[in-house]
Amino acid sequence: MKLGICSDHGGFELKAILLPFLEQMGHEVKDYGAFTLDDKDDYPDFVVPLAKAVAANEVVRGIAICGSGVGASIAANKVAGVRAALIQDHFSAHQGVEDDNMNMICLGGRVTGFASAQELIVAFLQAEFTNAERHLRRLQKVALLEK
Ligand code: RB5
Repeated sequence: MKLGICSDHGGFELKAILLPFLEQMGHEVKDYGAFTLDDKDDYPDFVVPLAKAVAANEVVRGIAICGSGVGASIAANKVAGVRAALIQDHFSAHQGVEDDNMNMICLGGRVTGFASAQELIVAFLQAEFTNAERHLRRLQKVALLEK
């Protein structure tokens, strides 16, 4: 799968560990930065370009990491076509895709350890949207907010 990943300084270390893990899984991964650790960088500068790439289908799914995952989630969801969530548990990692067609996962680099992040991402990437009528109806109501 073609993926995009990004982090600010708060997620820099986790991104550096996850990138080769994703490539070893066979995914093509585009890195949207940060490319150097800079304690003064701002998560929207990395999250918004990734979110736009997800919305434009340049990458199929996105992984955005900041310190808590909160800022990344807030910024990503401002981009029309993005359905992002901060994920900290396995159930939500796949159910968010199955029911809500989540196309970006946000993680907290200061909160979620590597092994947990790995499991959450695998669950996220293996899940597929069910296309169930009730979920489509709910997503249409959400999408109306983008108009
Ligand atoms: C940066 O210090 C931190 O605020 C940021 O990474 C993120 O946690 C925001 O939600």
